[in-house]
Amino acid sequence: MVKTKALLLIAAWFGAFFSSTGAYIYQPVTRGGDITLRCPVEATNPNCGTISWSKDGEIVENQTEITYTLYALEFEDSRNYSCNNCGNVEEFEVKVGERPSRPPLPVCRNSPNTTIWCFAPLSDVTLDRMCLHVYSISRFGSKRRIKRNCEPHNQQLNASIDLDYYIAYRYELEVIVRNDFGQSSSKGSYDLSQNVIPEKPLNITLETTGSISFEGSFELPNSWKTASYLEYKYQVTHDNNTKTLWDYSSNTRTVNFQFRLDEAPKPYSSVCVQVKIKFGYILSNSWSNYGDKSCNYTESAAPSRSPENFHVSTTDIQDGVYRNVIFTWSPPPEEHRNGVIEENLLVVEEVNQGCKPREISNENLTAHTTQFSISDTLKADRTYVAKLSAWTNKGGSPLAFLVLAPFSKGYCPEILEIERR
Ligand SMILES: *[C@@H]1O[C@H](CO)[C@@H](O)[C@H](O)[C@H]1NC(C)=O
Ligand SMILES: *[C@@H]1O[C@H](CO)[C@@H](O)[C@H](O)[C@H]1NC(C)=O
Ligand SMILES: *[C@@H]1O[C@H](CO)[C@@H](O)[C@H](O)[C@H]1NC(C)=O
Ligand SMILES: *[C@@H]1O[C@H](CO)[C@@H](O)[C@H](O)[C@H]1NC(C)=O
Ligand SMILES: *[C@@H]1O[C@H](CO)[C@@H](O)[C@H](O)[C@H]1NC(C)=O
Ligand SMILES: *[C@@H]1O[C@H](CO)[C@@H](O)[C@H](O)[C@H]1NC(C)=O
Ligand SMILES: *[C@@H]1O[C@H](CO)[C@@H](O)[C@H](O)[C@H]1NC(C)=O
Ligand SMILES: *[C@@H]1O[C@H](CO)[C@@H](O)[C@H](O)[C@H]1NC(C)=O
Repeated sequence: MVKTKALLLIAAWFGAFFSSTGAYIYQPVTRGGDITLRCPVEATNPNCGTISWSKDGEIVENQTEITYTLYALEFEDSRNYSCNNCGNVEEFEVKVGERPSRPPLPVCRNSPNTTIWCFAPLSDVTLDRMCLHVYSISRFGSKRRIKRNCEPHNQQLNASIDLDYYIAYRYELEVIVRNDFGQSSSKGSYDLSQNVIPEKPLNITLETTGSISFEGSFELPNSWKTASYLEYKYQVTHDNNTKTLWDYSSNTRTVNFQFRLDEAPKPYSSVCVQVKIKFGYILSNSWSNYGDKSCNYTESAAPSRSPENFHVSTTDIQDGVYRNVIFTWSPPPEEHRNGVIEENLLVVEEVNQGCKPREISNENLTAHTTQFSISDTLKADRTYVAKLSAWTNKGGSPLAFLVLAPFSKGYCPEILEIERR
């Protein structure tokens, strides 16, 4: 017995070879199709008259032709056949099958950056080969293949696609599956920019740069590719009004932006900003969450009201002099401070010597001081005026006045008229 080990070339899309299953000529055929088996007798015994064909070892036909045709094959016709030409035997394995059904469409995962992973889900049919092809479609419509991943057996196929703003957002993904009986494919068009769901921006800062102008910055999340095209929106909140501004940036990790408030702001009022980012200019692309809020203040001004509750109290008198004179006060009302109080200036003058004021004390007191005392200095028969103002870095408040003149006859109203506001 001579057994021929043979290879059969199948005209297929891939143009590849299938090997036989060993000593048999493997003969795949699509269900419903015909197959003609050819006994290679010419090479072996040209004078042999009869060729007997067997199916699973049983002779089914004695004939003189060297071909044997099976028609309209069904799955159960998958059998082993052989031809015997005067002792020269050739064996065939006929396999009836169908081409694979259309595979599921490729699936693309969301990513926090512009590297999108797509994969071809496994099909439920035994496959000889599976390919995932990726084409980019430019804004001008031209199509270019950028990936071709193939595996010889059933395997999930992956493709990472780096979105490139300058080339394309749109990609065509095609899964091609093949078995011995043919191939099928599924193709989808994808706007992969929709799969970018960025992480929120970090480290937002806000600086006051003028009476109504501000400068902000933020950093891109670590997962963001620096070269990726970025759109950002920022919300500016001031006096319970929020306005949204937006801009673009292409290739820096730290993004700077500037804005102005619409109206002259209240001094030292809070301004807050929040930023979110997205990839590309397509409206439906996903925004990140807003990053953490960052706040600063509009420029400060001098306080618009004097310190409040300005009082003086005295202790006993010894040798015509107060043992202690104690001034107390509280800061201007919060909404009139217009900034951070940095110091309190307290001036005490004697005003009843011929009406020419004489400075007794001039104190620069810390912001939190609300009390000041003068010991063994002020005379009980004189008139004193105390003037107090609270200061921000932009100037002093209107003065708060106090007169200490319990026993005085030399009280001088003109001066106080001038000084009082
Ligand atoms: C084929 O020929 C063989 C021997 O010559 C014989 O035994 C057999 O019965 C024949 N079979 C058919 C189906 O004609
Ligand atoms: C055909 O022969 C091969 C090799 O011996 C075997 O693996 C296969 O099961 C056979 N097919 C049938 C339908 O008997
Ligand atoms: C594709 O990715 C999946 C999970 O992400 C992994 O299990 C699989 O091995 C990958 N396949 C290939 C061919 O890289
Ligand atoms: C944000 O700022 C912190 C502190 O300044 C720094 O440690 C961190 O690296 C910054 N984050 C980024 C993404 O640059
Ligand atoms: C507010 O802006 C000023 C610049 O005017 C800056 O020095 C300061 O650090 C900012 N404050 C905060 C909390 O960012
Ligand atoms: C982009 O995100 C993916 C997760 O989807 C991650 O595996 C990858 O490392 C990220 N790339 C960069 C540059 O951070
Ligand atoms: C902002 O709104 C809050 C709560 O509604 C209110 O108490 C506050 O006075 C408002 N501030 C301004 C500046 O309008
Ligand atoms: C008060 O004293 C502080 C600290 O010495 C100084 O910086 C500030 O200019 C003084 N204020 C006035 C109004 O003189």
